[in-house]
Amino acid sequence: MKIAVLPGDGIGPEVTRQAVKVLKSIARRGHAFDMQEALIGGCAYDAAGHPLPAETLSLAREADSILFGAEGGFHYESLPRGLRPGDALLTLRRELDLFANFRPIVSAPALIEASNFKREVVEGLDLVLLRELTSDLYFGEPRGIEKALDGERYGINTMRYSESEIRRIAHVAFRTARERRRKVCSVDKANVLETMELWREIMTETGQEYPDVELTHLYIDAAAMELIRNPRQFDVIVTANLFGDILSDEASMLVGSIGMLPSASLSADGKGLYEPVHGCAPDIAGKDIANPLAAILSAAMMLRQSFKLDEEAARIEKAVDTVLRDGARTADIFWPGCVLVGTEEMGDRVVAALP
Ligand code: IPM
Ligand code: MG
Repeated sequence: MKIAVLPGDGIGPEVTRQAVKVLKSIARRGHAFDMQEALIGGCAYDAAGHPLPAETLSLAREADSILFGAEGGFHYESLPRGLRPGDALLTLRRELDLFANFRPIVSAPALIEASNFKREVVEGLDLVLLRELTSDLYFGEPRGIEKALDGERYGINTMRYSESEIRRIAHVAFRTARERRRKVCSVDKANVLETMELWREIMTETGQEYPDVELTHLYIDAAAMELIRNPRQFDVIVTANLFGDILSDEASMLVGSIGMLPSASLSADGKGLYEPVHGCAPDIAGKDIANPLAAILSAAMMLRQSFKLDEEAARIEKAVDTVLRDGARTADIFWPGCVLVGTEEMGDRVVAALP
């Protein structure tokens, strides 16, 4: 089991280190993980002049799965497009065709107090946000900032989806729902955008192949509202790249902190990139205060989705639960009466709690 470890920038390295620690502890009980590390993002730009060096891309291609940290930083934002850290992640997603992005939103009983929401709104919440990850405005052409004949500069991006791109994410949504509560809510903006009209048409058509799964549709604005009004109505939410980006940050607040959200990005052949949903958080990097649980839970998703090690994945999730129940909290999920711990100690506690 070959794992490319790409810690990246900001809090990426410190949270990834905790996930690697947990994987090594699992490995001690008989699994062989061949973990190789490479630079990505701002640190790769500093060292090699490019955020996605060729060696990193080929390591990612050869690996069975990828454990990713975060990338970015204030001082890289003025670099030309293509050389910015975020471009490395986007290229990786696109090059490896990691089109199906799973962002499970599951509220931990121990963290209900840390949520901004009332207990009755979020208790028992368990939904999957499935985001299309390789198309849409993120990659559509034409794009750019161009001067037109009227002398003004225009910013241009293209929202674009092919039928096959919509169909393949639809199939993933329906298959995922079949393993769960058999409900898919497709989120679009079909009332205004033709691209989204096609999205809705293909979702509906594909849904007919899954008569046992209930399909509903919401416009993105209504979905943003429903997600905080009554999140437990949802089982699987499937949506386009940009809408999914926005909805997943919104959804993170339901479970207390974005520091709790893991994710998996899969290609059709089962290859996966696993990463915490949070970004590089340069303001808290290197201070040993970041929450490593999203990274650790991403490693659990890797074991389950890429390596079919369901039991080991469940052990990690159980350990995270135990640690939270015992009251350990990083600053982002701290609540009076709990024990404030750092990044490293949180990782150690998870390892110690592994059943
Ligand atoms: C995410 C991030 C990325 C995205 C950025 C870092 C390019 O916000 O994974 O949600 O927009 O997809
Ligand atoms: Mg995002």
